[in-house]
Amino acid sequence: MVRKIAILTSGGDAPGMNAALRVCIRAGLYYGKEMYVIYDGFRGLVEGDIHQVNKDFTQDIINRGGTIIRSARLPEFKEPEVIKKAIDVLTDFEIDALIGIGGDGTFRGLNDLAKAGFPCVGVPATIDNDVGSTDQTIGFSTALNTICDCIDKLKDTSSSHQRCSLIEVMGRHCGDLAMYAALAEGAEGVICVEHPLKKEQLFKKLRKMKAQNKNHAIIIVSENLLDINALAAEVEKETGFTARTEVLGRLQRGGSPTANDRILATRLSARAIDIVIKEEGSKIVGMKNNAVVDYPIQDAVNMKHEYVHGLRDLIDMLQ
Ligand code: F6P
Repeated sequence: MVRKIAILTSGGDAPGMNAALRVCIRAGLYYGKEMYVIYDGFRGLVEGDIHQVNKDFTQDIINRGGTIIRSARLPEFKEPEVIKKAIDVLTDFEIDALIGIGGDGTFRGLNDLAKAGFPCVGVPATIDNDVGSTDQTIGFSTALNTICDCIDKLKDTSSSHQRCSLIEVMGRHCGDLAMYAALAEGAEGVICVEHPLKKEQLFKKLRKMKAQNKNHAIIIVSENLLDINALAAEVEKETGFTARTEVLGRLQRGGSPTANDRILATRLSARAIDIVIKEEGSKIVGMKNNAVVDYPIQDAVNMKHEYVHGLRDLIDMLQ
């Protein structure tokens, strides 16, 4: 029978990780389990930074951004000796199961532990929304709102100066933040893997807007694709707009989680505890069509996040 459950957060932090942690701890305690937290993700696991917690630990964290048990990236957490060390530590602490809150990198780490025989459950949390086994990750909704807040503000100053703003958003290799932000902001352009740059088309449109004396133009660009400063220089040369660039960076990862992220974190984490207690094996939980689902971990890590059908057409129609 499962007696002791440990939880860690790993990879890039995401708003709602604390809400997920809170539910894991409270639900576990509700079922009479001993609950443990691991600081600094897989690094803390390997170093044995593991502490028993009670309900007080979860006071007033549902609305807090970041992760109170901190996060880290540990690229070497795939090497057999590092995995073995982690399992030795978990065994020493008599932990029966591990819950990892994070993105696809976290799930690969959990999968390695699971392959070595240790029961693990993953809860998807990353602002990128790039996890195949869920329609939405914890943190995406908050990051999207943050981006929209920033662009709303930028529109004020862009209008005052009749500028074109090029805004780089996160997403690693997934264009969801860019595309949803473009829809929510009525942006003039969006450039991401799913909606690649068509330079001539974009410049033509900006030239037309300039000729019509439009106040501003907003172009949203996904990270890791192109040099936005070089593109801004081309926009100036080709369209007559003065251009400015903004890289929103890690501020997209901060802030109090939206209600949507808190509810998502609550539903997914409650199911994660359920899986652990019922000893259903190593799994990843997710949300599909507004229902909580789960997949065996070895299947989940190979699932690709699907582009939402029709989004691109909607963007093209409305630009
Ligand atoms: O995965 C989340 C994320 O914020 C990505 O969007 C971004 O590419 C990456 O993390 C940045 O990671 P770090 O803060 O470790 O540089």
